[in-house]
Amino acid sequence: MASLNSSFLLFLVAYVMFDSCSRAAAESQEAEALLKWKDSLLQTQALHSWSLLPKANASTPIASSPCNWTGIKCNDAGSIIEINIPNAILTGKLDNFSFSAFPNLIHLNLSGNRLSGNIPAHIDTLFKLSFLDLASNQLSGSIPSKIGKLKNLILLDLSNNSLTGTIPSNLGNLTKLTNLLLHRNLISGSIPPELGNLKNLIRLSLFSNSLTSSVPLSLGNLRNLTEISISKNQLSGSIPQEMTNLRHLVILGLSDNNFSGHLPQQICRSGLIQRFTVGNNHFTGPVPESLRNCTTLKRVRLEGNQLIGNISEVFGVYPDLDFIDMSNSGLYGELSPNWGDCRNLMTLKMSGNNISGRIPSQIAKLHKLGVLDLSSNFLTGEIPNDLGRLSSLINMNLRNNQLSGLVPQELGELSNLEILDLSMNKLRGTIPQQLGDCSKMRFLKLSGNELNGSIPFQIVSLVNLQVMLDLSHNLLTGEIPSQLGKLQRLENLNLSHNMLSGSIPSSFEDMLSLSSIDLSHNDLEGPLPDGKAFQQAPAEAFTGNKGLCGKAQGLQLCNNSSSMNSGDGKKDHKIFIAIFIPLLVVIILLSVFVFLYYNFRQRKRKVENDVKKKNHGNLFSIWNYDGKVVFEDLIEATENFDSRYCIGAGGYGRVYRADLPTGHVVAVKKLHPVEGNEVADERSFRNEIQTLTEIRHRNIVKLYGFCFHSQCSLLNYEYMERGSLGSILKDAEKAMAMNWVKRVNVIKGMANALSYMHHDLTPPMIHRDLSSNNILLDSEFEARVSDFGTARLLKPDSSNWSTLAGTYGYVAPELAYTMKVTEKCDVYSFGVVSLEIIMGRHPGDLFSSLTSLEGQDTLVIDLLDERLPLPTAQCMKDVVCATMLALGCSCANPHSRPTMQHVSQELSGGRAPLPQDLHTITLSQLSDHIYPEHTGQDSRSPRKF
Ligand SMILES: *[C@@H]1O[C@H](CO)[C@@H](O)[C@H](O)[C@H]1NC(C)=O
Ligand SMILES: *[C@@H]1O[C@H](CO)[C@@H](O)[C@H](O)[C@H]1NC(C)=O
Ligand SMILES: *[C@@H]1O[C@H](CO)[C@@H](O)[C@H](O)[C@H]1NC(C)=O
Ligand SMILES: *[C@@H]1O[C@H](CO)[C@@H](O)[C@H](O)[C@H]1NC(C)=O
Ligand SMILES: *[C@@H]1O[C@H](CO)[C@@H](O)[C@H](O)[C@H]1NC(C)=O
Repeated sequence: MASLNSSFLLFLVAYVMFDSCSRAAAESQEAEALLKWKDSLLQTQALHSWSLLPKANASTPIASSPCNWTGIKCNDAGSIIEINIPNAILTGKLDNFSFSAFPNLIHLNLSGNRLSGNIPAHIDTLFKLSFLDLASNQLSGSIPSKIGKLKNLILLDLSNNSLTGTIPSNLGNLTKLTNLLLHRNLISGSIPPELGNLKNLIRLSLFSNSLTSSVPLSLGNLRNLTEISISKNQLSGSIPQEMTNLRHLVILGLSDNNFSGHLPQQICRSGLIQRFTVGNNHFTGPVPESLRNCTTLKRVRLEGNQLIGNISEVFGVYPDLDFIDMSNSGLYGELSPNWGDCRNLMTLKMSGNNISGRIPSQIAKLHKLGVLDLSSNFLTGEIPNDLGRLSSLINMNLRNNQLSGLVPQELGELSNLEILDLSMNKLRGTIPQQLGDCSKMRFLKLSGNELNGSIPFQIVSLVNLQVMLDLSHNLLTGEIPSQLGKLQRLENLNLSHNMLSGSIPSSFEDMLSLSSIDLSHNDLEGPLPDGKAFQQAPAEAFTGNKGLCGKAQGLQLCNNSSSMNSGDGKKDHKIFIAIFIPLLVVIILLSVFVFLYYNFRQRKRKVENDVKKKNHGNLFSIWNYDGKVVFEDLIEATENFDSRYCIGAGGYGRVYRADLPTGHVVAVKKLHPVEGNEVADERSFRNEIQTLTEIRHRNIVKLYGFCFHSQCSLLNYEYMERGSLGSILKDAEKAMAMNWVKRVNVIKGMANALSYMHHDLTPPMIHRDLSSNNILLDSEFEARVSDFGTARLLKPDSSNWSTLAGTYGYVAPELAYTMKVTEKCDVYSFGVVSLEIIMGRHPGDLFSSLTSLEGQDTLVIDLLDERLPLPTAQCMKDVVCATMLALGCSCANPHSRPTMQHVSQELSGGRAPLPQDLHTITLSQLSDHIYPEHTGQDSRSPRKF
């Protein structure tokens, strides 16, 4: 008994010793194999944990159990069954992977790494391998046929590599295989019929290879297949009718091959098909009738075949359908309103068929629709207005049909639309300005219709318009809106074959991306804008116009010498110089004389006419703006001065925004009716307006014209995007956008404008009513002084002012007692406005505090608008300098104020260096600096400022 016991014990000890010994041996063999492979890799960061650790009480380092390493799993016996290291940037080869060291490996997943080279043939030593996933690496060479020995394989995924060669036929021995995924490789040859032995196969994915010849009939045996994807190969022949046996099929992908014959008619007999993609083959015959009731369909591609079918009969309603392409597939019939019930549809393409009838407005129910392509069919009727409800639509292509009626303005509601092609139809009417609301538009083509009217300038809102603007072959009239030049990304512009007149806007120079342009066959005249696109355009781009000139091919140069196309020969040249130049000079002199005389006559007649007009009634105007804008246009553009168009109001009247039919935007100031009196001296009044309209200064708002009418008087100005300085300073957000650099620049701009009016004009012109409300800012925050001379226009007998013109808080104090308006009044107002810019509010309280000595010891930096961060060092200098000048200008004593010329020069750089630390400078120190000669008692005088 004891001996039995002891021998059992002995056996037990021996067994345990043997077991742990073999276990350790297995572990170390596998660990070494892994480490050897790791060493052969170039990038192994992910395998950080794969390493040998010295064992606590052993002299030689041995592997810590690999079972704890990243991606490794062992069985209970400590042998590796899983190596799972996907997407780890492992870089290297499989050559030094000792597959034979892993007799128990079941899972090998190295997908999504950077493994290159061949799949080694000795992979066949992984006897137990069930899952082999090497997808998405850079493996090359052919698939070793020895893989056919891995009898236990259930999944073989070698997709998305660069494998070449053929599919080994002995893969057909892998009868346990459920997934055979070899797509996205360079595999050639035919599909081996042996694959028909893979009775358990569920997914067969071979798409995107170079497979040829026909599909083996044996594939019809794969009764469990749910997916067969063999698209994008060079397969040919017909699809075996045996495919119909595949009762579980969900995905059938045959597109982009050379298949011919009929489509399997009963393909959806099982009622499971979700993807039926057979596009771009040579299939003929009927669309499978089983598709009609195949409600599971999600994706259908029939395009590019020669099928027969009436779309309203062969297609049903598919609640899950998200993609259908049946372009160029030989279909006919009318679009059924039922399409509106395919609520998940995102892409509907059926171009190039024989589809007729109208576009059913029910399509507008497809609120997920992103692509609607019905081009090149025989659709008639109007484009349903409801299509404006397709809120997801990105691409609408109705090109080349027989659609009539108007372009629905509702299309402007398609806020996601990027591509709109309505070309080659019979659309008429005008181009709806609402299209300008489709702000994502990249491509707009309305060519080949009967559209008339002018090009709506609102198109310039399409800032993303890049690929194409094609309005050619229509009946468009009017001028090309100058704003089109703002489409700076536009690459292709075609306005040819219309009746556009006028000149090409010079703003087109700004279209720097333009690579192709066609303005031929219009009534355009005048010079071509500068710019590469114009100079490099072929002659055809401008032919058939009235009189374009410029540096482009085939056009005459613009200067008067355009008639002298000099000959090539040198002799000709000499004759030319000897005879033609003197002749030319004579001709020019004569024509100048004739012109002057004619002009003189004309003017005289015009004056007479005007006088007549005046006698007739009550309307006279001076319009320097295109010579076209008339009173009626302004009334129309503002809907008779509807408050919706009102953009501001001031002492003299309200200001309206008018979008003129020519595409221009102007500001119209509608003045309060003048109290009863007619204009006293019409001629001097007219002269003065004439002068004002002729002023061109970058800091003065352009006055286009004046219209005097018994009911109302209008001033017509350049429109300024950002509105008045006053309104910006009052709005915290807008004020923050106007940083110190911009503010200093506005002050400079104002000073330049005033200096120009006071010193460069004879006689000088005084503004009389400068305030932050009539300093306007353009989109770049550049200042524009508006309402110059308006005060005087409205009180023509200003020599004896009965009431004070000007805005309270900005009027120079001396006007209260002298009533004498001088330039110095403007200087005062300038000082106030400048301080307002610096302080962010009207400086009224500053003025009152300056009467005290404490006030004068205010730090300059304490004046600065607190809504902005302190200016940077460089900018601080400018701000302090501007403050100093502004204080000087708002001096109570007019004689102490500097001239605007002086201010303008100081601001633009020529100033004396400022003293000391700008952060501690006080107002009184500043004032000493302005007028050092006044130091002493005067500098402390309370009304110094
Ligand atoms: C693979 O191992 C062999 C020796 O077994 C060695 O010569 C070769 O350089 C190794 N290959 C790589 C890629 O490390
Ligand atoms: C493996 O890791 C576990 C916990 O992470 C640890 O307890 C164990 O000792 C490790 N085994 C070896 C052999 O390193
Ligand atoms: C391999 O890993 C990837 C990434 O985690 C995974 O998507 C894939 O299904 C795995 N393959 C197998 C056969 O488990
Ligand atoms: C194919 O593999 C590349 C890397 O080789 C990867 O970037 C890409 O995402 C993979 N494509 C697919 C569809 O998995
Ligand atoms: C494997 O397939 C090949 C060719 O398909 C065949 O000749 C061979 O007998 C098969 N081998 C085994 C072990 O079944």
